[in-house]
Amino acid sequence: MDEQTNVKSLLKERLGQDLLSILERISQVASRSEVTVFAVGGFVRDLLLNIPNKDIDIVVEGNGILFASDLAEEFDGKVKSHEKFGTSVVIFPDGYRIDVAMARVEYYEYPAALPTIKQSSVNSDLYRRDFTINSLAVKLNGEGAFSLMDLFNGKRDLKNKEINVLHNLSFIDDPCRLFRAIKFEQRFSFKISKQTEEFMRVAVKKRLVDSLSGARLLNEITLILKEKYPLKYILRMKEFDLLKFISSQIILDSADLEALEKIETVLSWTETISLPEKPEVWYVYLLAIIYSLDEESFMETIEKLPMQARLKKSLIIDRRTCKKGLELLGKDKDWEPEVIYHLFSDLSIEALIYFLAVDSTDRANQYANIYFTQYCGQAELSLTGDDLVEMGLKPGPVFQSVFKALREAHVKGAIETRDDEVCWVKKEFLEQ
Ligand code: CTP
Repeated sequence: MDEQTNVKSLLKERLGQDLLSILERISQVASRSEVTVFAVGGFVRDLLLNIPNKDIDIVVEGNGILFASDLAEEFDGKVKSHEKFGTSVVIFPDGYRIDVAMARVEYYEYPAALPTIKQSSVNSDLYRRDFTINSLAVKLNGEGAFSLMDLFNGKRDLKNKEINVLHNLSFIDDPCRLFRAIKFEQRFSFKISKQTEEFMRVAVKKRLVDSLSGARLLNEITLILKEKYPLKYILRMKEFDLLKFISSQIILDSADLEALEKIETVLSWTETISLPEKPEVWYVYLLAIIYSLDEESFMETIEKLPMQARLKKSLIIDRRTCKKGLELLGKDKDWEPEVIYHLFSDLSIEALIYFLAVDSTDRANQYANIYFTQYCGQAELSLTGDDLVEMGLKPGPVFQSVFKALREAHVKGAIETRDDEVCWVKKEFLEQ
């Protein structure tokens, strides 16, 4: 196929006339503004792979900030710019966004530093990119408009299903790419080439990932865990010895791996029942990766990764409650309804999924079933915080205890109606 002439029809066929029209208007604005612009990166890669991706990334040879504001005017949109980096985002009235950046070269003062940026040609811009498959571009205006630019054999690697870096310093420039290589390899069922694998092994040996900030590391890990079927990505990270950069104590022994393998099955099961909320699958896998760490390493790890305080707190509680639950399951004694309710209601949905992956015995499943089908709904309360205030209780942490105790009373069958709830609160919390 002659890509020189065919990218336009490919765009129309694969992404639709609407998107093609947007690109044609971008092309006209660029010519009016006397700059040359290119669609680059994942958008072009996915176009050739026939994977729907409407996230257009534009690179401009010339003043990118000015061009972005011309583009916003053309589409009656808004523009937000980062003068320092020469990047903008154009936001259409319907919320659709296009990223615009000036063509640039980046200098790294030291490995893993944030780059120093200088305006350049599209060719140098493409050369600084991570993998050949991400270095493809479509020229959008001027001579050869809508032709494919393939300076580094990206098309060949797409065809051969191979991940290749552009040069041997790629992982030194940006160690995040170690994770990205695995992400693209697994997402597309490609293979990291022998040579790129060697560069990766050297980068791991030199511990280049240590120089990444916790935020960048967490971002890459989260992106990976948000992919479909994260287990194969985790196994590949293990193969490349990358998990040690999360914590040097992560082993993932056979029991951990067994639990990781079961997560998918539990997730399928949860789709058949009605859950109070949709689980964040990536969190289940994150918990699974760090669950077996000893207390000290676990705390160290979640301190190192700069997550929101809410997330940290829930990881700590989830791990603690899971351990408690597994211990209780280890004893032969049947669980009373309130034990089931208390334990499972302390767990996030995600941790409950992990719990069932670690212990997939009939008993654990049966308790989870009882919890979801009987207690979750039953434990919904009629009384609200306002009702408690009206009844004479002072707002504060005590409300949590009241609600918890009320739910437990429901589950035990001690109360049923709103009137029961009122009497019960009066008796337990108001009468001396
Ligand atoms: N890029 C890079 N090195 C990085 C991150 C990004 O070279 N460490 C380049 C790649 O050319 C990539 C582009 O910037 O295609 C955009 O990055 P990003 O949005 O993270 O990736 P996509 O390729 O769009 O992938 P995804 O489908 O995951 O969004």
